[in-house]
Order: sequence, then structure tokens, then C-alpha cells
Amino acid sequence: MIDLVCGGQAGDEGKGKIAAYLSYKGNYEYCVRVGGPNAGHTVVQDGVSYTLKNIPSGFLNPKTKLVLGAGAYTKTEWLLDEVKKTNTQDRLIIDPYAVLITDEQTGAERGASHFMNHIGSVGTGLGQAVKERIERRDIKFAKDEPLLKDFIQDVPELLNRSLDKGGDILLEGTQGIKLSLLHGEYPFVTSRDTTASTFLGEAGLGPKSVRDVYVVFKPYITRVGPGPLEHEMTDEKELEIYHTKGHEIGSVSKRLRRVGKFEKRSASRAIMINNCTKIAITHIDMFPGNDRVKREEDFTPEAKAFLANLRALSAEVYPHPKIALISTGPDMEDTLVL
Ligand code: IMP
Ligand code: MG
Repeated sequence: MIDLVCGGQAGDEGKGKIAAYLSYKGNYEYCVRVGGPNAGHTVVQDGVSYTLKNIPSGFLNPKTKLVLGAGAYTKTEWLLDEVKKTNTQDRLIIDPYAVLITDEQTGAERGASHFMNHIGSVGTGLGQAVKERIERRDIKFAKDEPLLKDFIQDVPELLNRSLDKGGDILLEGTQGIKLSLLHGEYPFVTSRDTTASTFLGEAGLGPKSVRDVYVVFKPYITRVGPGPLEHEMTDEKELEIYHTKGHEIGSVSKRLRRVGKFEKRSASRAIMINNCTKIAITHIDMFPGNDRVKREEDFTPEAKAFLANLRALSAEVYPHPKIALISTGPDMEDTLVL
């Protein structure tokens, strides 16, 4: 069966950590990533931190094979650099139609003030590559790169054969509902839809084999670029705590993230549109006194009130997901299972 990890806010909810945890503890045959290298997923194990722009966060489980679907965009040198750092050359599989962003595409995006200033693009070239793909230009696919030839396989065939034999797949999405091209806050969005059904299509999977859809939330929202943020924090001292203790600095863009209060409306839409069955919460330790708490009873009243409010919201929104995972610190092991 397929489990999915989706973002419930404006990206950077901690999908990387949740995907890493699930994959480390679970028995997934494949961990699949789609989307672009504008999304940095951070995974910390035993104090060692990895920021992944290409490789699925499930790489920590040595038994899991790592897959980039046809809806993945990467850059050859960035990918190969990560493969080396994560020592994953023996278990990486790439769809022939995953896109390789060229230096020209990166340059074109970085030179376009519409992308960089108006939308606040990360500048990886993803938007430019998507644009050229839609225009049916002569873009570069993974199948065209000799350095990647050993990794190329028919991904839809492989994944669906695994499902047929009872295998499990973890599909790691990117960004969050507020950045969806379809359901987000246009035009301050990324160049793709960022919800569960699209992630499935981008991997070559259908909806019938989905078991759980995890949607990840923080108790607050961050945004690296322009666009709406309800109740944005402006107090410098308060913001500094998020930028230091909360590590709220863009993992790819390196920009200081804007911070706002938890938004009920976008949370409801994330639950609804993703058909969320399980909620994962990260950064609960940003409420003082909740670092590495091991039992729900031991959370502070502030954290407990947040959880109660989220449960009340979920009771009102189909399909009424349960809170399933709470991350209480940066390390993969700092995770409470409810
Ligand atoms: P683009 O996808 O690089 O064009 O960026 C469009 C908007 O989405 C900008 O505001 C980016 O900062 C934001 N964005 C894109 N990817 C991510 C991400 O992975 N995390 C957070 N924000 C992102
Ligand atoms: Mg990120």
C-alpha cells in the first residue's frame, strides 16, 4: 500500500523528518520523491543533519530503494553530490522522464525579476523547466544523461508491480497547500500543484492503493517568499527565537523565514484536499518546555491547548484525521507516536 506525506502549510513543515521517521521505522520497499530541488527536506539522525533537495528522505533505511518519479525535477550535479553524501548509489532509481534542470534554465529563472522579485522563487530553475516542459520545448530528461544511465528504470511499472506483490511505498511530497499552483494563494505559489493526488500522478501511481495520507503541520506557519500570512509576527525578539531555536531559515534559499500564527483555514483545506487520514505535528518544542517530551500527558498547557484546538478542527473537517505523530525535537528519534 501507499502512504503519502504532504505539507499542510507553506512548505517547510518538516515533511523530511516525518518521511524519514516513517521510512526508518516502517518497512517500505520504495521511498519516492517528486517535485523540484527548490524544496529542501532536512533529516537529522544522531546529530548529523542532511538537507536533501533530490534524494527521498527515506534514505536512512538501508533496505528502502529510492525513487525519483517522472514528476521529479533535479540537476545532475546536485543529485550526484547528494547520492555521494548519502551513499545511495546502489539503490537509486530514476524515471526516464524525470527532468534535469539545465544551467540555462537556472540562469533564466535567476535573471527574471518576475520569478525572483514578484513571486520570490528560490532560483533553482524549476519554474523555468516546468514552463519549457509545458511548452513542449527540447528539455533534458534523465534518460538523456549518460551519467545517470545506471539509475534509469520504468518507475510506474516497478512501483505497481511492488504493490501487486503486497509491497509498501512511501511517497514524499513537497511544499504545502498554500504554495499549490491550483489550491494555494496564487500567484504566490510554486509551479506545480502540491497535493496528494498530484504527487501520486507524478510518481505514476493511482489513488486506489493509498493507505494513509499524512499531512504535516507546525504550530505556526512560515513562508520564505512573499504572499499571505495571517497574523504575521513582527516583533524582532520573538522572530529571532524562531530563526535560531526553530532553525527557520530557508534550507535552499537561506532566507530568514517569515513567521505567522497557525491558520485554521489553510489547515482545513489541507486536510480536505489531501484527504488526510493522519496528522503529523512538528516543532511542538517551539512552545517552551516541550523539548523531547515522551508522553502526551507531559506537554505544557500551551502545547495541550494547541493539540485540543487541532482535534476540534479535525472533528469538523472530512475525513476527520487523528493526530498520529508529534515531533518534539530535530532528531528523527524525537518523535512521539500516538
Ligand atoms: P518557486 O517554486 O521556487 O518558484 O517559489 C515560489 C514560492 O514558493 C516562493 O515564495 C518560494 O519561497 C516558495 N517555495 C518554493 N519551494 C519551497 C519550499 O520547499 N519550502 C518553502 N517555500 C518554498
Ligand atoms: Mg524545506
